[in-house]
Amino acid sequence: MKKNFILDYAHHLLKEYITSSDIVVDATMGNGYDTLYLSSLSKKVYAFDIQEKAIEETAKKLSENQVNNVELILDSHENINHYCKSYKAVIFNLGYLPNSDKSITTRTESTMSTISSILPKLSIGGFIQIVSYTGHEEGKRESEALHHFLNHLDTDTYKVIKINLPYQDNHPPHILMVHKVKDES
Ligand SMILES: C[S@@+](CC[C@H](N)C(=O)[O-])C[C@H]1O[C@@H](n2cnc3c(N)ncnc32)[C@H](O)[C@@H]1O
Repeated sequence: MKKNFILDYAHHLLKEYITSSDIVVDATMGNGYDTLYLSSLSKKVYAFDIQEKAIEETAKKLSENQVNNVELILDSHENINHYCKSYKAVIFNLGYLPNSDKSITTRTESTMSTISSILPKLSIGGFIQIVSYTGHEEGKRESEALHHFLNHLDTDTYKVIKINLPYQDNHPPHILMVHKVKDES
C-alpha cells in the first residue's frame, strides 16, 4: 500500500491503546491492512465488510501472514452488536476501496447509526477511531454528520480528539479518536 502519513499515524495511535488481551473490531476491513495490523496488537479481531472482494483480499493477507485470531464477517458494521458482546475498540476507515467501485462507499446514515449504537457498549478506556475523508461528496456529508454528532456528546463521558493536516492541499483524510473516560449517566 502507498505510504500515507495519516493512516500510519492512525496505526501508531492504535499501538498506544490496544493490548494483547483486547478484543477489537475493524468495522470496514477493505483490503485488510488495518485488520492485519489489529491482529498483531490484540487477542481477537472481528472484521466487517459488505463486499465479498474485501473478505477475499483480507483472508489472503491473513493466510500469508499465518494469522489466526481474526473472524471475517460479510455483513454491515450496523450489525456489530449481533456478533460481538464486548470490545475495547472499534475502528473505521471510511470511504471506498482504492482502485475499486467508488459507488460502494460507507454511507452517512449507516455510519452514524453504528457509531451511536457502539458508544454505549464501550467500557471506560474503550475508544472508537475513525479515519474520515472529505475529498468526495458522500465523504463530505459523512464528515459533517460526524462532527455534528460528536459536538453534542457529553464532554465528561467522551473525550474527542481530531488529528488533521491543516496546511496540506487536496483534502487529506483526518483522524477522530473518541475515548470513553466515564460511564454514561
Ligand atoms: C476505505 S475502505 C477500508 C480500508 C481498509 N480498512 C484497509 O485496511 O484496506 C472502506 C470499506 O468500507 C466498506 N463498507 C462500506 N459500507 C460498509 C458497511 N456498512 N459495513 C461494513 N463495511 C462497509 C467498503 O466495502 C470498503 O471496503
